[in-house]
Amino acid sequence: MPGVIVLPAGGFRRAKAAITAWPGYAPTPLVDLPLIAEDAGVAAIRIKDEGARFGLGSFKALGGAYAVANLLAAVLSRQGVALSVTSVDLEAGLCAEQTQSVTVTCATDGNHGRSVAWGAQRFHCGCTIFVHETVSQGRVDAITAFGASVVRVPGNYDDAVREADRCARTNGWFVVSDTSYPGYTEVPRDVMQGYRLMADEAADQWTGPPPTHVFVQAGVGGAAAAVSVQMRARFSPAPALIVIEPERAACLFESARTGALSSVHGDLETIMAGLACGEPSILAWQELERSATAFLSISDEAAVDALCLLAGDGIAIGESGVAGLAGLLAVATDSASREMVSLTAGSRVLLFGTEGVTDPVVYNDILCSRQR
Ligand SMILES: Cc1ncc(COP(=O)(O)O)c(C=O)c1O
Repeated sequence: MPGVIVLPAGGFRRAKAAITAWPGYAPTPLVDLPLIAEDAGVAAIRIKDEGARFGLGSFKALGGAYAVANLLAAVLSRQGVALSVTSVDLEAGLCAEQTQSVTVTCATDGNHGRSVAWGAQRFHCGCTIFVHETVSQGRVDAITAFGASVVRVPGNYDDAVREADRCARTNGWFVVSDTSYPGYTEVPRDVMQGYRLMADEAADQWTGPPPTHVFVQAGVGGAAAAVSVQMRARFSPAPALIVIEPERAACLFESARTGALSSVHGDLETIMAGLACGEPSILAWQELERSATAFLSISDEAAVDALCLLAGDGIAIGESGVAGLAGLLAVATDSASREMVSLTAGSRVLLFGTEGVTDPVVYNDILCSRQR
């Protein structure tokens, strides 16, 4: 595709080499959903189940932690301490004396902060994570379990992003954000290069004729953009990419509607906590504005339906992870939408179950509310 290369191939080769060398690395499973495919009137649906990713419960383990390692390597190189340390060197504590004086920070709605905190603990640096008002206590506890400090700030995810940035400037900390904004793209680019591994594995695991459609959920869009780039790298023609967001946090949908990077405001309240973002990542938008076939927003109710449907099949995917399936089902049951994205009885759909049960209290509440 002509135009800007958002994620150069060399960056992905480095990310893949680093992450696949980490202890405990194993590809997550790609699960066939034949009954749901039959009901949806398509030939196949397969979902990548990220629940077991490095014991962190989501694909985010691939991004934030990898970016922490790269950032520390860059700091050590600038200080003249070591020119090219690897994440394996860092984990072994090779430069721990120097890295301990570095603090990384970010805003999170749960999963990215968990990954950054995990990376900071493994690679021996300090870590302070900012969460907004409605991030569940279970998600906060999962971050502090890795030794990070957590600061709760008023407002929504985007307010927490600004507060992390402000505190980093004041304290000399390093922001390891999963979203990019003007003047800040290098770290989120590393995060997205890490995410590509999820899509790369899915391409390795896919058997038979290639996927025709990918329905992928988005918060700031980094994951969807990484999937988009990797699908193009692995399949020709690339499958149609449909981006799914919660209706109250549909900033990429809004950007597509207006034809320019746009934000949505308010409390962004949705059960899809990981997708509650009002401002797109500029890198993600650069990719998605050219590559996405369609943008779709869905209700919380649709996500609950999808979560329960998968649970009924014995597959535990969390609230944010089921949005792609919810989007597919919304399209599959509406003939005009099917036509718009060329979804037919012969279509083969790839989904990304981007999280498992990352907060058991929230997950079980949803299941119980449906059973009542
Ligand atoms: C489980 C899950 N899925 C998808 C996403 C969306 O990723 P992005 O914000 O890069 O669009 C997130 C983000 O936190 C997430 O936690």
